[in-house]
Amino acid sequence: MKKITIEGGTPVFGEVHISGAKNSVLPLIAATLLTNGVSLIADSPWLSDVDTMCRVLTHLGAETGFADGELALDTTDLRTVEPPGELVRKMRASFLIMGPLLARTGRARMSLPGGCAIGSRPIDLHLKGFEAMGAQISIEHGFIEARADRLQGARIYLDFPSVGATENIMMAASLADGITLIENAAHEPEIIDLANMLGVMGANIKGAGTNSIRIEGVPTLKPARHSVIPDRIEAGSFLCMAAATGGELILNNVLAEHLQPLLAKLSEMGCAIEVSYDSIHILGPEEITPVDIKTLPYPGFPTDLQAQVMALLTVCKGTATVTETVFENRFMHAEELAKMGADIKIDGSKARINGVSHLEGARVMATDLRAGAAMVIAAQMAQGKTEITGVEHIDRGYENLTEKLRRIGSRIRICEA
Ligand code: EPZ
Repeated sequence: MKKITIEGGTPVFGEVHISGAKNSVLPLIAATLLTNGVSLIADSPWLSDVDTMCRVLTHLGAETGFADGELALDTTDLRTVEPPGELVRKMRASFLIMGPLLARTGRARMSLPGGCAIGSRPIDLHLKGFEAMGAQISIEHGFIEARADRLQGARIYLDFPSVGATENIMMAASLADGITLIENAAHEPEIIDLANMLGVMGANIKGAGTNSIRIEGVPTLKPARHSVIPDRIEAGSFLCMAAATGGELILNNVLAEHLQPLLAKLSEMGCAIEVSYDSIHILGPEEITPVDIKTLPYPGFPTDLQAQVMALLTVCKGTATVTETVFENRFMHAEELAKMGADIKIDGSKARINGVSHLEGARVMATDLRAGAAMVIAAQMAQGKTEITGVEHIDRGYENLTEKLRRIGSRIRICEA
């Protein structure tokens, strides 16, 4: 087990190159199953989740490679439609192969993806879409199987604008017979990125990025080369670190329009922010003005930045509130922050944060990926030394984090726990 130690109390300063988006590259990898041949995904981050997704495809019979930030995936020969259970249970995003496998082969069988630290993570909306397109779904002994001779276009209303369900249904519908309309679809930038790659593969998709997406199925799709959008959540995590430490950062390879809610809130907190077409310059304030945060599906404030902004608000000059509306259990980082001296009271989906003068270093745990990022931010702003265990969570979503932090002045070390 690895752990991170950070000697905190100093502002971060310098430049950070933002990597490709984890939550885009994972569905893009799944989408390559819709065709045979070699697809290339450029500007891809190398993360443990990307490795896991590539191992899922390799198990199915694909060949995968990674060099110089580019993934190569040859999905010509598939020998099975059943990925290994331990990988599916390890990473929920592996469920995104269900739609492509069903559309390409007429069958898919996999173990039910587990819930995780932040919630039960159901898949009912994914299944609602597949059944609407004519698939027969059976669930027994912890496995889910979907069969369909040929998927048929359908009109599908998502009760919640689920990112994964929108992606899975959009991929399946790309090869269906007829027109599919996804209503109340997710708007996230990662949906648009996936639609763009599917378009290069020959899919006929209109409306990605709005709440109605129209997909006209085509007989076959061809391999593609596509470049991943920058990771808005990694960028937001570094912006919160600059604000929390009163530091100054320039982020390169970032799309500011994907971060409007966070940039607005950081400005309200007192940060000075300048944006250009692919970079953001932030100067953290002397003191943090309290703000209220409410997470919502895009374009609202992203739930994946909730933990990071809570860490920042622990030292605000007054009282702030954070309301989590997307997941039912995404406040576990509050307990870890309290070990560092934060004053946070949780009442259902609302956290009330009474600002303290500073945080103190402590032994804390990363309970999930984004909570891990929050602990790194808290450790960097705290007086003294912090030890963070659960680093494997952080490795899932932050490429070369230690190196990037060292470059901006963090006194961070990785060692065996
Ligand atoms: C994606 O997860 C992201 N993961 C998550 O990022 C992100 O937090 C989430 O979208 C919301 O933005 C990837 O893209 C790989 P959802 P996903 O389906 O698709 C409910 C990170 O840290 N729901 O939009 O699983 C669900 O319970 C991760 O990078 C149903 O009820 O999220 C949740 O309350 C964490 N039925 C809400 O929708 C369903 O069939 C949002 O889930 C599906 C979802």
